[in-house]
Amino acid sequence: MSEEGYKQNSSITMTDGRSAGTELYVGGNKITDEQFATLPENQLKGGLLGWYAVCSINSLKEDQLYFFSMYNEPLVLYRDKNKSAKCIKDLCPHRGSSFQGGTIKEGDIVCPYHGGRFASEGNCTNLERITCQHIVDSNYNNYAKKIHLNQYPCIEKDDYIYIYYNGKSSTNLEEIEYKADLEDSRPDSYGFNTADYTYEEVCVDFKCDWARIIENHLDILHIFWVHGDTIPDKDVNRNVITSFNQKIIRDSRHIESKYNHKQQDKGEFITIKFIPPGRILIYKGTPEDARYIQVLDHIPLAENRARVIVRHYRKFLKNKLLTQLIMFKSLQHRIFYRIFTEDYLILKTQSFNEQMGYVQKDNVKLLGEDKMVQYYWDWLQNALKNEKPWTLHPTKINTNSVYKDLPMKYPPENQSLAKNNNRSIIFQLILRLLIPIGLLIALI
Ligand code: FES
Ligand SMILES: [Fe+2]
Repeated sequence: MSEEGYKQNSSITMTDGRSAGTELYVGGNKITDEQFATLPENQLKGGLLGWYAVCSINSLKEDQLYFFSMYNEPLVLYRDKNKSAKCIKDLCPHRGSSFQGGTIKEGDIVCPYHGGRFASEGNCTNLERITCQHIVDSNYNNYAKKIHLNQYPCIEKDDYIYIYYNGKSSTNLEEIEYKADLEDSRPDSYGFNTADYTYEEVCVDFKCDWARIIENHLDILHIFWVHGDTIPDKDVNRNVITSFNQKIIRDSRHIESKYNHKQQDKGEFITIKFIPPGRILIYKGTPEDARYIQVLDHIPLAENRARVIVRHYRKFLKNKLLTQLIMFKSLQHRIFYRIFTEDYLILKTQSFNEQMGYVQKDNVKLLGEDKMVQYYWDWLQNALKNEKPWTLHPTKINTNSVYKDLPMKYPPENQSLAKNNNRSIIFQLILRLLIPIGLLIALI
């Protein structure tokens, strides 16, 4: 969303909604709505520039280049000679070619244009290929030394590849000033122990505004209306009139909303936690006891393009043989794809309405259950104003569209992943039927 758009949104005030039972907590103390919104020490300290989980470790194969972008800036991930993940700007420092079409040789990235080869530290290891030796000899410090990859800090943790994105790639990672702490993003820093879980995940791209998807995942009401037929829970369907007692907790690292059923005996419905800049955790119970955690990572690829990695951690069904037998992975993926497809039309059209400037004070009203969205908007508005991430690498009107097409992964509208997954379910089912029949025939 544009900064201007949020300026207008910022004047939206909460309207009393159905959720009269909202309680606000800061540092364990119950406070009023006004105090909650304005106490400076309780503002989220993280901004839009910081640590992002951009890729699952399974997606980054050895000797392969993984292209993506952040806030319009084209980037590449690859594994160096120590098999460590590296993140660089997709720009060869010799003459500005992309690394698309390039290769990895013994952990060095090799440019497709003149064969310039770069070590994991970023320095060119075969200067003689791109310049004469006498230039290297006579002018090394002024010229050749500067042929150096532009990098971003990159760390592998919890089976994710995180990058520290500040919008300014650097030839010297030692000089980077960190304004955010990776530990603040990790579920384990909030009391979870992800080592106790197993997980399934999918990665899906959307042609819509990044902020709209986060908002969708913070939105409790649409779960019943949009996903009521898909989510395998009998209490989640269109006929349920939802209303919750909401408990919102905020500290400098996160905002959390716990939704409790109004009927005392039903207890908690769900807890949603937003951790800047792009992570959401959804679970039920305490972090120590939660049977599942859904971890959603939102990656701002470019204007109107966003990537989501959804990972579903579970403490149950951990037996590999059993899960294979009941096709758990494929069936779980089927639900993921259906949910994303259900959201997609809304995300696309809502992005359009926002970009047209329709999502403004007089046109929309945030009601009781939208409190999380309101706090998210407040945070986003401040972060956009302070950091202006979309102005760091603005696209020009005539920019070659090659980057717009190449980094996309499985946009839901082509449905190819969902179709392949359905085919695999049918195939696995047939196989499970044929094997016993075959055995029976053999015995007879
Ligand atoms: S542009 Fe990359 S080696 Fe020349
Ligand atoms: Fe949704």
